[in-house]
Amino acid sequence: MALRNIVTNEDPILKKVCRPVGEVTPRIQMILDDMVETMRDANGVGLAAPQVGIMRRMFVAEPEPEKVYCFVDPEIVSFEGEQESTEGCLSVPGFVGKVMRPEKIVIRGRDRYGKEKEFTFEGFEAVVMCHEYDHLEGILYTDKASEVFPAEQADPDAAEEQDE
Ligand code: NI
Repeated sequence: MALRNIVTNEDPILKKVCRPVGEVTPRIQMILDDMVETMRDANGVGLAAPQVGIMRRMFVAEPEPEKVYCFVDPEIVSFEGEQESTEGCLSVPGFVGKVMRPEKIVIRGRDRYGKEKEFTFEGFEAVVMCHEYDHLEGILYTDKASEVFPAEQADPDAAEEQDE
């Protein structure tokens, strides 16, 4: 495995819509493994392929330690409710912002082995998955945030300010 460079928000590729992955080949698996390693190295809870310069529809997430998800060609098939989250992004270093997200989602996609999977996520996990999914559509949280501010001004009691 290898660490990959994380591109930041001045790079226009983060604004582009990613193409489907298709078959989960050994090369795709290697990229997913590298993304997990890169996400962990950066202390993030999620990382989407375009953040490492790969314009394909896949992301990894670890909303809780050792609970790793890989999504290939995911679709959010339903969502309900609303919550306000405070989010950061590994591609927008030093900032956080307040974003409205669904409270609960159902997401379907393939895993690292190409197997079809469907999950229901609520709360913080739903936030992470929606944030990563947006990256595949060329959307950053800063495009949706009601406010964006330097991370050091964030409320220290807010537990959810993790980079995605
Ligand atoms: Ni992000």
